[in-house]
Amino acid sequence: MIRAAVLAGLGTYVPSRVITNDDLSRILDTSDEWIRSRTGIAQRHWAPPGTATGDLAVEAGGRALKSSGSGDVDLVVVATTTPDHPCPATAPGVAHRLGLNAVAAYDIAAVCSGFVYAMASAAGAIAAGIADRVLVIGAETYSTILNPEDRTTSVIFGDGAGAVVLRAGDPSEPGALLGHDLGSDGSLKDLIIVPAGGSRQPVAAVAASGDRPAETYFQMEGKPVFRHAVTRMVASSEAILHRAGWAPESVDWFVGHQANVRILHAVADQLGIDRDRTVVNLDRVGNTSAASIPLALDDAASRGLLTPGDRVLMSAFGGGLTWGSTALVWPEIVTG
Ligand code: COA
Repeated sequence: MIRAAVLAGLGTYVPSRVITNDDLSRILDTSDEWIRSRTGIAQRHWAPPGTATGDLAVEAGGRALKSSGSGDVDLVVVATTTPDHPCPATAPGVAHRLGLNAVAAYDIAAVCSGFVYAMASAAGAIAAGIADRVLVIGAETYSTILNPEDRTTSVIFGDGAGAVVLRAGDPSEPGALLGHDLGSDGSLKDLIIVPAGGSRQPVAAVAASGDRPAETYFQMEGKPVFRHAVTRMVASSEAILHRAGWAPESVDWFVGHQANVRILHAVADQLGIDRDRTVVNLDRVGNTSAASIPLALDDAASRGLLTPGDRVLMSAFGGGLTWGSTALVWPEIVTG
């Protein structure tokens, strides 16, 4: 029998520093009205300078372990666009700080689709018998890669972390991930990019002046990204609904990547899911990239929206371009 990956714990963390739209309007040519009406975002959290992604990941990871009722896992996967260092991966340090000793640990880089990719990777490890319990963390400090002079990106992204524990179980159990749909289109890689800092354009090559080079900041072409996000999330969600045997109108909660409320509503409309069934927390946290889906799950659970037995569809889209979806029936869990 196939070993399914079953949701056994959930925990999140956001740094306490809140940046409102009005805060940004004081330093950028933007307004609360523009940001709210174009994105749905009212505020985001930015970590204080000196905070790294691993710091947020440890907080969320610890809460997810506690929520799962056991501190033991045999694999840690961290999805992030903003690793602590180019080398090594963030996950081994996080595992160490969580007291997980010699467990396997690696990072997944799939930008805003990272968490869905990481859950698929963890489910694969469980199905193959490589791991029995996996800690999957999505964590980001986008504040470290946002160009403070770029109003098209600075208003959108926030920092945060979310984590789940997946354990080996039966595909028919509540909480079992009911398949994974993943995809990418690298021909459009330049739509979402940090151009320098990797092997193609080492920082030294662009760092002639004393100021931080623009190429080391995150860049995004919002309009085409919006279009592709809707198309890909719809197709990927449909693939998962088909695999799960669920009609769109039977979905209790659509938990989409929190990029823009207009994207979430467009995807829900095209899928035939009522907009009221769309979980939205981006108004309070912005787009937290790889942390987005677990933060939205935790928000919905703590607001009492998600109840055991609910059918939950998750779908994400991000740089790469990448996209992915999965689904589960919400289990009895106490979130951390
Ligand atoms: N404040 C005020 N005006 C702004 C602004 C800001 N923060 N950012 C852009 N503008 C201006 C533009 O300069 C443009 O002005 P112009 O008409 O004079 O040229 C106008 O607002 C419209 O810009 P546009 O980029 O066409 O807006 P939009 O409706 O496409 O919204 C995004 C921009 C970024 C919010 C939207 O494209 C989006 O959400 N894209 C997807 C982002 C995403 O999902 N990213 C993550 C994927 S992982």
